[in-house]
Amino acid sequence: MFNTALVDRETTHPGVLPLDLFAAIESLKKELNAVILAHYYQEPDIQDIADFIGDSLQLARAAANTNADTIVFAGVHFMAETAKILNPDKLVLLPDLNAGCSLADSCPAEAFAAFKAAHPDHLVVSYINCSADIKAMSDIICTSSNAVKIVQQIPKDQPIIFAPDRNLGRYVMEQTGRDMVLWDGSCIVHETFSEKKIVQLKIAHPEAEAIAHPECETSILRHANYIGSTAALLTYCQNSPAQEFIVATEPGIIHQMQKLAPQKRFIPAPPINNCNCNECPFMRLNTLEKVYLAMKNRTPEITMSEEIRLAALRPMQRMLEMSV
Ligand code: 13P
Ligand code: SF4
Repeated sequence: MFNTALVDRETTHPGVLPLDLFAAIESLKKELNAVILAHYYQEPDIQDIADFIGDSLQLARAAANTNADTIVFAGVHFMAETAKILNPDKLVLLPDLNAGCSLADSCPAEAFAAFKAAHPDHLVVSYINCSADIKAMSDIICTSSNAVKIVQQIPKDQPIIFAPDRNLGRYVMEQTGRDMVLWDGSCIVHETFSEKKIVQLKIAHPEAEAIAHPECETSILRHANYIGSTAALLTYCQNSPAQEFIVATEPGIIHQMQKLAPQKRFIPAPPINNCNCNECPFMRLNTLEKVYLAMKNRTPEITMSEEIRLAALRPMQRMLEMSV
């Protein structure tokens, strides 16, 4: 519901944030015919104001199916770019343009073009956590929830390059028995977990189940009772009879886990150092204030050349077809 006090405050104090950001964002949603899509790693307030929360695949599907004129993407740059690839005529806003991704950055376009040229017979399967330029050089996109399924559909005699995440690539190789040429990229968040501290937690909580995202290193995955995408981890926690979980992924997802299973206990897997480095510094750049300002000012907007968009769209569409 729109609060007229907000209008007055905006008029009399230009640049001052409204007192009730939730109400102001709701009002802007109507004004812009906007939808707010949020990843599970966003701060709780953003998850609570979002129209749709999901993992990368669910968010890509939501972006493909929305009738809104404006997509406010509360996530990182490659996710908002994906929404723009699928919706060239919509205004796509990212609350903080600096919300990048260490994994996407670990695969620069020029170096990847040379890598691809060195493996001319290979089909390129790229994890969605990459730039539009890398998508444009790929044959099929995948996410952590459909990577195994997609690789299984590729003929066995077809050599494959998998980029950019070496940990997810290794996990897919194990699950499918396929050999793949891996790009040597990784996520700083999922490589921060301490194997020693996870083992100590398992000893201290013998009934707890360890769950992990496949972007984690093999040394962490081998202690996991269950491995899956953020959405799969969420479903697993709801359905498992276990009452305690050690969660080896970005702890933002614990907000939804706790909402869906309030009686259960979720322990974030600790990082090696005494730091908050298990929180994604890029995802956390988005705040409720920035969501409001992006909608109010219609910026920062995601743009790209039509040539790159069309080239990146083809492997995205293949993914959506192959993961129904
Ligand atoms: P999913 O949402 O596909 O599980 O990916 C996690 C991630 O790291 C997103 O950046
Ligand atoms: Fe990128 Fe890792 Fe952050 Fe996901 S958690 S957005 S892969 S840096």
